[in-house]
Amino acid sequence: MELSPLLIKRGLKTKVLASEIFYYSLLNSTNETAKELASKGAKEGALIVAEEQRRGKGRRERVWLSEGGKNILASIIFRPQLEAGQVFYLTMIASLSIAKAIKEVSGLEARIKWPNDVYLNDKKVCGILTEFSFQKEKINYAIVGIGINVNSDPSIYPEIRSRATSILKETGKEISRVELFKLLLSHMEEGYGFLQKGKLAEIREEWEGLSLLKGKMVKVVSNGEVEKGFYKGIDENGALIIQDLKGERKRIVSGDASLELGDEDG
Ligand code: BTN
Repeated sequence: MELSPLLIKRGLKTKVLASEIFYYSLLNSTNETAKELASKGAKEGALIVAEEQRRGKGRRERVWLSEGGKNILASIIFRPQLEAGQVFYLTMIASLSIAKAIKEVSGLEARIKWPNDVYLNDKKVCGILTEFSFQKEKINYAIVGIGINVNSDPSIYPEIRSRATSILKETGKEISRVELFKLLLSHMEEGYGFLQKGKLAEIREEWEGLSLLKGKMVKVVSNGEVEKGFYKGIDENGALIIQDLKGERKRIVSGDASLELGDEDG
């Protein structure tokens, strides 16, 4: 079944999210199209949905590989009253909403890996790419791009075979993309309400509750440097805090984290 605007809208109770929906069978990247639409004045909450992308963008100039017609490839336009340094909260409410929606449709306990991946059984099921445009520290628009492997078999791509999974792969069952997407949008609307009310600590707390790295020894590659230490959480700007083996605390603003063997209990 297609992820068509009509099906997405049916019974959806959100007021901001999905204010308008732009649907494409094929495009280069939903984030790129979202940026064009946002700069032309598309409404807050506008969704850009595609069945397939020619050049899906991942973080750090990577490509996002996704089998056409099987997954969720979408970008959401926000016009939040946030400082540029707080954009991370949009990514947080997205990862939280995705984890909750996955649990509701599949029963699987999804976990979030800093900064913005959603994992199922230690493999990546979803990536989020948030991009924004700002002027004088105020956000003009922010685009939250979401790629979820739903009914695909990511092992068709040798590059990601060992690290990626899909909901189908973990459950053996096809699930409705429309249902998953609607749940995700409802949670995201609720999370966005929290964000607008300034409930940042509450969002962080909920996010920490689903953190894959909690209590673990982690390895982070940041600007070509490797740091290892125990995960201590994230700070109010979304930076990762680790404590290295000498007991020193380190703050890492961006990077790729992975689990090292062992946890805090030994
Ligand atoms: C990552 O894990 O590196 C982020 C991946 C983000 C992929 C999604 S797919 C929909 C949206 N459009 C894009 O071009 N990228 C994001």
